Amino acid sequence: MAITLTPLPIPSTADPSNFAVFGQEVLGVNPGKCSADELKEIKDALYRHEILLFRNVSLTPEQQYALTKFFDPTSNNFGHGNNKIDSTKSSVLHPDLKTIPRVPQVQLIGNGPVYNHEGIPEAKLKHPMHMSCHKTVIKEDEVANAGLSPTRFYRWHIDAALYDLSPSRVTTLHAIRVPQGLKQVVRYDDETGDELLVPLGTTAFVSGQRIFGLLTDELKSVAVRAKVKYAPHPYIWMARSHVRSTGLGLESEGLEKSLEELPPWSDDKVKIYPMLWKNPVTNKLSLQVHPGGASEIIIDPLPNGADRAKTQLYPGGAHIKDLQEVRELLYRMQRPGIAPKLVYPHDWHENDLIIFHNRGVLHSVVGTFLPDQVRVFHQCNLAASNEPVGPNVEDVEKWA
Ligand SMILES: [Fe+2]
Repeated sequence: MAITLTPLPIPSTADPSNFAVFGQEVLGVNPGKCSADELKEIKDALYRHEILLFRNVSLTPEQQYALTKFFDPTSNNFGHGNNKIDSTKSSVLHPDLKTIPRVPQVQLIGNGPVYNHEGIPEAKLKHPMHMSCHKTVIKEDEVANAGLSPTRFYRWHIDAALYDLSPSRVTTLHAIRVPQGLKQVVRYDDETGDELLVPLGTTAFVSGQRIFGLLTDELKSVAVRAKVKYAPHPYIWMARSHVRSTGLGLESEGLEKSLEELPPWSDDKVKIYPMLWKNPVTNKLSLQVHPGGASEIIIDPLPNGADRAKTQLYPGGAHIKDLQEVRELLYRMQRPGIAPKLVYPHDWHENDLIIFHNRGVLHSVVGTFLPDQVRVFHQCNLAASNEPVGPNVEDVEKWA
């Protein structure tokens, strides 16, 4: 049976033209029990639309792992390594992820106390909230418009270890318990006045293709020539750093750990990725940078024959090692892409499943929960069997 696609239920805050292709809901299939033909169609649709939503899905951790693995059949390990997060207490990811013992590629995430869940006798889950890591914090008694409580994007990111292991091709998120509550208002708190009304505990998505498309010609030329070098053990390196109020990258306060303070590391495991990643089906380019983990930017000179009048930015190339300069350039490139009308804030229902193309979107946890609001999700992504592919010679000729 052919799968049926229909537009995502986008909110009134979203610009419909941004979501004509970006994101689709899949009807009429059970993603845990698909035929080989249906799986092929789902895979093709995922790369064309970047986010796929399925409703009313019951899925065991084994089925979720099998579905995720279908996108990268030779991968066997969770994106950060099986059972590694639980044992790495100094990582910023440590409080957020609990491994399902039977299927270590699947993580239990959410909020509140959970008992006897898939072999975990007891877990005190903590929804990642901005108060734990942003430089400025919304005061508890503040209210937004219509009496709703204000909140923030927690941290825009790609699901990726960014050291040793390769970024997952896809992530699957399965909602098992979703607490009901009033909507909240995301405040950007960056002097733009930008705000976004969101469902409680939404996951927010933006398109990497759109982030690239919004750049000026000058910045497109930089993006197509640039590579990003990530810090070794980036989530430990950044553990003391504060997140910007938009959730997009870190403040530069000199709080990163020195390389000597990190666990042992080696140069051959450090990741250097092109700033633009190529979609394997559409060949379109997405600006895919994890802004928190980035430590250096390496920019090639303009190629021979490039129109030098077109760009004054780094025509002879550059190697930017100053962390503040790295972050300011990335912020200038990525911030337009998280404008309220470009964000898809998913309104989770119990038994929703989302598959997203982790090499084509940025996403963020959002929202503020009380300790007793129980939210239970299963997340699965796998360290990939290959590295993302960057721009080819024609892309450089076209955009540089
Ligand atoms: Fe994530």
